Amino acid sequence: MSQASANIRKLLIESISDERAALVKIHDSGPGLTPETREKLFSPFYTTKPEGMGMGLSICRSIVTAHGGSITANSLQGAGTTFEFTIPAKTEPG
Ligand SMILES: Nc1ncnc2c1ncn2[C@@H]1O[C@H](COP(=O)(O)OP(=O)(O)O)[C@@H](O)[C@H]1O
Ligand SMILES: [Mg+2]
Repeated sequence: MSQASANIRKLLIESISDERAALVKIHDSGPGLTPETREKLFSPFYTTKPEGMGMGLSICRSIVTAHGGSITANSLQGAGTTFEFTIPAKTEPG
């Protein structure tokens, strides 16, 4: 979002849960995803930033999948990006 001018930087975080799962949505007012970025977004060491490490989203995906959930990203060019992840509720044994 550092690419957007300061007065239009918005980050909206929503969460919803029921007895089966929690769903979290994070919507930003950044530049959105190019087709290339969309393809490689979660790959380790993929970065478009001069000082980037490219590990942030790879680690996010590892954590979410380790909890049995999934994470996706969607964007409209110029209209920001929305990440969504789910984490299933813990099921009681038996
Ligand atoms: N919210 C976002 N909006 C647009 N592009 C993003 C967003 N988050 C990540 N990206 C793209 O995915 C790449 C990888 O992200 P990440 O794994 O967090 O590593 P890093 O932030 O170190 O570059 C970023 O360099 C950027 O190109
Ligand atoms: Mg990052």
